[in-house]
Amino acid sequence: MNRVTTASVLSSSIAHELNQPLGAILSNTEAAQMLLKAHPLDMAQLGEILSDIVRDEQRASEIISGLRNLLNNRTESDLQTLDLNDTVRDVVKIVSPEVTRRGVILRTILATEPLRVRCDPIHLQQVIINLVMNGVDAMEEVANPHNLTIRTNLADTGDVEARISDSGTGIPNDKLASIFNAFVTTKPQGTGLGLPIARTILESYGGELWAENRTRGAVFSFKLPPAKA
Ligand SMILES: Nc1ncnc2c1ncn2[C@@H]1O[C@H](COP(=O)(O)OP(=O)(O)O)[C@@H](O)[C@H]1O
Ligand SMILES: [Mg+2]
Repeated sequence: MNRVTTASVLSSSIAHELNQPLGAILSNTEAAQMLLKAHPLDMAQLGEILSDIVRDEQRASEIISGLRNLLNNRTESDLQTLDLNDTVRDVVKIVSPEVTRRGVILRTILATEPLRVRCDPIHLQQVIINLVMNGVDAMEEVANPHNLTIRTNLADTGDVEARISDSGTGIPNDKLASIFNAFVTTKPQGTGLGLPIARTILESYGGELWAENRTRGAVFSFKLPPAKA
């Protein structure tokens, strides 16, 4: 349960931090629009408002680059050679109570061979938890069955792959590309940061994350380069 919250706390704390400068930019822009209607124009005050907007924009950029640094400045000691199958088993233990409570049947189909990757295990857990919880959310409003499957395998290329599929609403075709952008959400309480964070994490390890629709529901797949022997 802690890990479930770690992922969403990470997203919502970034959203919360960004809300402040973004809110300030909005109210300053509105103030400037008001000032523009006045005669004569108060150029000095307009100048001050524009400087405030620039300052708040810089704060927002710093928050975002802080997140990038968090991922890029990791030390070799944070990295471990781990088996993706073990990470999936850990995630299943973490999310099972919540997933079951929400009426979802979670299955795993794991590769028989070990899938060695070199990652911070917490990062990899966060990626999978984000994808699983999105799948659970997508099944909330649809009729049964509510099935979620996590599959892993070793690709012919040697890459390590995982697929998280659900029997939910699927992704509207016009949203397939934009769901990976920050703040794109269709949920009342959503942050729209789960997928961009998951993709940033995977890309920081040389991996990829992509989405497709199935006959019913969606499937999110990712791949990672194998750990060197
Ligand atoms: N498994 C899924 N099935 C259908 N839509 C999905 C799925 N996963 C993500 N989405 C869509 O992508 C959006 C962005 O997801 P995410 O970045 O995790 O943010 P959040 O979960 O906070 O909305 C969701 O609001 C939803 O519209
Ligand atoms: Mg999400």
